[in-house]
Amino acid sequence: MYRTAVHFPNVVTMRRAPYSSESTLMVDSNITNSPEWNCIHTNDSETMFPTNFAWGAATSAYQIEGGWDVDDKGPSIWDTFCHEGGRLVFEGQSGDVTCNSYELWEEDLRCIRQLGLTHYRLSLSWSRLLPEGITRHVNQKGLRYYNKVINDLLASDVLPMVTLYHFDLPQALQDQGGWKSPEIAAIFDSYACFCFESFGDRVKLWITLNEPYVCAKLGHEDGIFAPGVKEPGMAAYLVGHNMLRGHARAWHSYNVLYRAKQGGSVSLAINSDWAEPLDPASPDDTAATERYLAFTLGWFAWPLFVTGDYPEVMRSSIEVRSKELGYQEGSRLPRFSKDEPSLLGTADFFALNYYTSRRVKPGECCPGLLGLKSDRDAEGVVDPSWPVCGVSWLAVVPDGLRKLLKYIKDTFNNPAVYITENGFSQVGPVDMEDVQRCGFYHDIIQEVARALREDGVDVRGYFAWSLLDNFEWADGFSVRFGLFHVDFSRPKRPRTAYRSGREYAGIISKYRSQTMVNI
Ligand code: GAL
Repeated sequence: MYRTAVHFPNVVTMRRAPYSSESTLMVDSNITNSPEWNCIHTNDSETMFPTNFAWGAATSAYQIEGGWDVDDKGPSIWDTFCHEGGRLVFEGQSGDVTCNSYELWEEDLRCIRQLGLTHYRLSLSWSRLLPEGITRHVNQKGLRYYNKVINDLLASDVLPMVTLYHFDLPQALQDQGGWKSPEIAAIFDSYACFCFESFGDRVKLWITLNEPYVCAKLGHEDGIFAPGVKEPGMAAYLVGHNMLRGHARAWHSYNVLYRAKQGGSVSLAINSDWAEPLDPASPDDTAATERYLAFTLGWFAWPLFVTGDYPEVMRSSIEVRSKELGYQEGSRLPRFSKDEPSLLGTADFFALNYYTSRRVKPGECCPGLLGLKSDRDAEGVVDPSWPVCGVSWLAVVPDGLRKLLKYIKDTFNNPAVYITENGFSQVGPVDMEDVQRCGFYHDIIQEVARALREDGVDVRGYFAWSLLDNFEWADGFSVRFGLFHVDFSRPKRPRTAYRSGREYAGIISKYRSQTMVNI
């Protein structure tokens, strides 16, 4: 019933600005070696998944927790952005209460169990644990909260994947320069060590930072995400650089201090569209596509997986544009110092957030201005045959995920991959019978299966975004990604499974039971 490629009308409904968005050291053998291929073959679709495939759903602290100022929590940049920059968020909304998961965690657990997840991806609120961002003052109530969440998950046979940072920097650290300040890398490292020390006996899958691209571009170039900085062509590169430095330090700390006794794996979640030339026969479109991928995926993946530095085409494009514009104050794209921990090899697996695809041609934007888009000189367009769901940037292209996975396999030396986010949004009136999203999940999981079976990509897991409807950043509550609907008008924030939640539970149950039969 949901097996055709396109199930739904081409609807564009959103009004807001679109965004798309070597080490020789020891690495966990569970991650770097090929999986045990106790594969599953189903009768109807020949789908197969390794027996230990992770079936997950994801959330993030600011988007679901609420309790923004209770129990000693310090403010984060998203608290400030919503309270003081309110007009930038849909209808002046905020994550002050949102799903109130800080109070209602057990309701979330019920949803997780109902889906039959094997894994749950959550993020820690840095300023709930360390109100000032540094370990001088630890909030014991925050520690207790996350210990309960982790323990409850494990007691329910659900493995946590924990993200240390998902967009919500402690305001106290922003006041000292935030991600633009070079000192932030060491401060992040000490926060990461605090988390490894506190939870690493039970948490085996870590993501240091979620989507540095989004933090850099939307937060420091476009100014539409916290902290709302608008310094085009400058701050984003600095922020991305310091985030990478912070990640590298945290990975090395884990490697040296915790890996032997805790045995976990650490990576960084990279978001990317799939991109291909608008006209495959055009050399200009092909070159633009290479730049497009270099400025999103490559920006963060190249340093970790290929060279320890940014993609050459990214550096040269920025240099060329700087020259054209007469910018003479050194390179806008910083260089990694040889005195610092190396970047190369600091990802134990590839963590990919995939939502959409683009066809690419050379850029048309603002040639006279400093800016990331002008440096990139590549424009992504939505193919008219692709349906668009909810938000205007989200063209639904399930086979783009398969192509991107194959590209990652070929470009980054066949890493283990977790798809740490992927989802389908709904806007307008609530539709509990969300058949389009049901179709989407069936299609995308087929594409993951094809990537595994036909392309030999080492995919280890899939996390749907999101477990719950939640605070969708600048779009507030107007955009819903949940497998569970949340009624934000009622104090108890009741959660009710959408039809897509029930379908996803059915998909998981089918593949997990076949796994057991096949062992
Ligand atoms: C990602 C982000 C998530 C969620 C999702 C849907 O960029 O990591 O927090 O908002 O997009 O837009």
